[in-house]
Amino acid sequence: MTFRIAQISDTHLSDDKPFFVDNFVRIGEALRISGPDLVLNTGDISLDGASSESDLAVARALHDGLGLPMRFLPGNHGLGDSQDAPAHGEGAIDADRRARYLSHFGADWWTLDVPGWRLLGINAQLLGSDLAATKHQERDVAAAIASLGQRRLVLFLHKPLFDRAVDETTITGRFINPVPRQLLLKALDGVVPALIACGHVHQFRETWADGVRHVWGTSTAFVIPDARQPRYGIKEVGYVEHLLEPDGTHASRLVRVPGVPTLDIAEFPAAYGPL
Ligand SMILES: [Fe+2]
Ligand SMILES: [Fe+2]
Repeated sequence: MTFRIAQISDTHLSDDKPFFVDNFVRIGEALRISGPDLVLNTGDISLDGASSESDLAVARALHDGLGLPMRFLPGNHGLGDSQDAPAHGEGAIDADRRARYLSHFGADWWTLDVPGWRLLGINAQLLGSDLAATKHQERDVAAAIASLGQRRLVLFLHKPLFDRAVDETTITGRFINPVPRQLLLKALDGVVPALIACGHVHQFRETWADGVRHVWGTSTAFVIPDARQPRYGIKEVGYVEHLLEPDGTHASRLVRVPGVPTLDIAEFPAAYGPL
């Protein structure tokens, strides 16, 4: 039977800055009707969970309200950005921030086996950090790969691995930086994921590189104007549906939800300050 994942991302939910809650609620209604086997939020679940515990709590409550099977992965706004990112407007990940995130959303890396497939979710912000959890995650990724068997692999994480090519050398906050990227690939030990899906850029994009389908899930909340962010793919809000077949075939598509506006972060200076 087909396993159907609704990947939501970059929901940026908050109690005192609830600008993006309406979009989440409307998309949540569409998800309840659609009834996927799993809803996965690939990070930036809260607007400012790195500093505000109430943002984490309200974001969790809104997700629980959907009453659907759910998994979570953290983004830079939930527990701080990667230590090797060039700027940390939201602060860098540290043990306290991570612990606070875990207390609301549970494990920040995990596996889930479904017919023909293993889903592997990881904490992208740990990559390139000096926290003890980084090594722990690396070991668990290696163990998940070692026991993969005949299953195909899907890797989920908040940030894209790269723009177009695995050997890119630019240091940015937008993609996994080159050194941790290579360490992650080493942990995969030659296994080529069928699909790598992420969020973070607030754009939908589907590309192929070295036999891997890379899908960027868009935000449910807002997009970033072209003056501040290149247009890599489609700047529209929505969610992504992934269909995983037991025989290893798969498909992904952007789902637009009628009546849900694509908000522009430039119109919400109270969220993160003026652009
Ligand atoms: Fe985001
Ligand atoms: Fe992000």
